[in-house]
Amino acid sequence: MLSGKRVLLIISGGIAAYKSLDLVRRLKGCEAEVRCILTSGGAQFVTPLSLSALSGEKVYQDLFSLADESEMGHIRLARNADLIVVAPASADFLAKMAGGLAGDLATAVLLASDRPVLVAPAMNVAMWKHAATRRNIALLEERGVTRVGPDAGNLACGEVGEGRMAEVPDIMAAIEEILVPDTSLSGRRALVTSGPTHEPIDPVRYIANRSSGKQGHAIAGAFARIGAETTLVSGPTNQPNLEGVDVQCVETAAQMLAACQSVLPVDVAVCAAAVSDWKVNSPAASKLKKTSGVPPVLELSKNPDILASLGQAGNLRPALVVGFAAETENVAEQAGAKRQAKGCDWMLANDVSAGTGTFGGDENTVHLIDDGGVEDWPTMTKSQVAERLAHRIADYFSHAA
Ligand code: C5P
Repeated sequence: MLSGKRVLLIISGGIAAYKSLDLVRRLKGCEAEVRCILTSGGAQFVTPLSLSALSGEKVYQDLFSLADESEMGHIRLARNADLIVVAPASADFLAKMAGGLAGDLATAVLLASDRPVLVAPAMNVAMWKHAATRRNIALLEERGVTRVGPDAGNLACGEVGEGRMAEVPDIMAAIEEILVPDTSLSGRRALVTSGPTHEPIDPVRYIANRSSGKQGHAIAGAFARIGAETTLVSGPTNQPNLEGVDVQCVETAAQMLAACQSVLPVDVAVCAAAVSDWKVNSPAASKLKKTSGVPPVLELSKNPDILASLGQAGNLRPALVVGFAAETENVAEQAGAKRQAKGCDWMLANDVSAGTGTFGGDENTVHLIDDGGVEDWPTMTKSQVAERLAHRIADYFSHAA
């Protein structure tokens, strides 16, 4: 699957550089084109000769080499790759990347490149845990750099802990994940609801809730990334636009229901919206005044249950209907009962009791409840929950097919 892909491998200084020889060999075995840049630190551990023998290409080392610049300048090296892999990425090299230094060929190439970058850190455990390295890694990840490893285990320095470079098969898997797009939901149609609903009281006031839309939006994004034709029906949120997703903005539960029905048929529907349970029966046509001194009495009625209506949509019922159950106690048990009551296939139960920070926060702890029972997922970011759910659904369809 990597055939013809162009990988630029930067080898910085670290004993793990010996594993990079195997990485080159495996990439070549997959018919990838591999060019190597060896830093001066890297050259203490492996030789240009071995890299060049394995890659079948010249090895680049010097930013100021006239011969190299005329043959393949550092700007071309930077742009002529589908992916740049830094393995091993030493603490020093990561710091240079984070700081945007460009004093040698490898760092100059990285600074001049707009290509995806994968780093495989390798260092002593204390260096890995140091606040400076933590900050550098966070900064690089924020800029879109992907990381594989490091693993925990015996380190070359004799200490034990996190810092070993990821094993070559894991680096290969990370490379494939970037270069070979996952299309496991292609051909599938997905519907996601997200955000709160606003139920008008009068033209300026409404009933709402604290939902941020982070989880629902992340799910729609994850579906689209692995190929699903995705519609997101969203209540008012501040979430950024999503690439490749058809977003339909609504305000009320009634509008959300109508938008969802207009999207059917779909293969999978995930209801992550925090739909207001109640709406005001007759919203005032003009702003309610406080001058009379008598507080208005709001007459409420129940909103339609969108999840339940999708679960009972007859011929148009999606093959997989997934709901969320935000609970504060007996989370899995309550969610199981809700799954039955609403006629959905999977329920993702999350604890929203005080102190969990789920509403509006970046993390979520969920339990997936299906016919097979309860699956506890570890605490993850909402994006990770979305990725895991998207892959779980792709897996479901691949077995159902
Ligand atoms: O009943 P409860 O609000 O706890 O159920 C939560 C689940 O039901 C969520 O998946 C939510 O999106 C969905 N729901 C809905 N329409 C409603 C109320 C809840 O789709 N009116």
